[in-house]
Amino acid sequence: QRTGQLTGKQIIVSAGGTVEPIDPVRFITNRSSGKMGYAIAQAAAEQGANVTLVTSSDLPAPAGVQTVHIQSARELLAAMTERFEAANAVIMAAAVSDYRVATPADQKMKKDAANPGLTLELVENPDILATLGANKTHQYLVGFAAETQDLINYAQQKLTKKNADMLIANDVSKAEVGFGYDTNQVTILTRDAQPETLPLQTKIAVAREIMRRVTEAVKD
Ligand code: C5P
Repeated sequence: QRTGQLTGKQIIVSAGGTVEPIDPVRFITNRSSGKMGYAIAQAAAEQGANVTLVTSSDLPAPAGVQTVHIQSARELLAAMTERFEAANAVIMAAAVSDYRVATPADQKMKKDAANPGLTLELVENPDILATLGANKTHQYLVGFAAETQDLINYAQQKLTKKNADMLIANDVSKAEVGFGYDTNQVTILTRDAQPETLPLQTKIAVAREIMRRVTEAVKD
């Protein structure tokens, strides 16, 4: 039994990309490794929280963290929605695919000699963070914004539009920042404070900084 400032609190973290099927053997995904979400789950568990990590990634689970494996955005939405009521804080670190294939094929798709091209019809996925934001009662809601330009502006808009309490912005066009790396450099935006830019540091150090602020917001 661990004790810490989050003992007795329920924290749900999502991590990794989503996997959207094209047919039984092919899929659409993205470059998210899941490392940032796993680091946040670890930092929350270090504070004594009951942590559930909802993930598409198969990295080893941090000590004391319960994992739930999902593939598609819709599976992720279902897993998050199911656990939302009991949660004190939700951290959406997953890189959710904005689109999915409208009608995945039941059988492996074959090449068609008469038609050299292939067009896939995509439809929009639900925005999970925005859905949780629209339905939140007591939960502290944290989102991420990976951008390649105009970082703070886009992140500020997402904070408001998705009704989150905190938005973690990272510029994925910079070296050693974001996808796949063990280091990250983020700016933290909240509703009532000025944006705060943290130095480049390991993802676990970034995660502890984020969780320190989340802890302030959710502890008794
Ligand atoms: O709009 P954008 O994808 O940049 O927003 C990023 C934030 O929103 C992340 O926290 C991500 O987990 C979440 N998101 C989501 N559902 C989507 C797209 C993004 O929950 N369909």
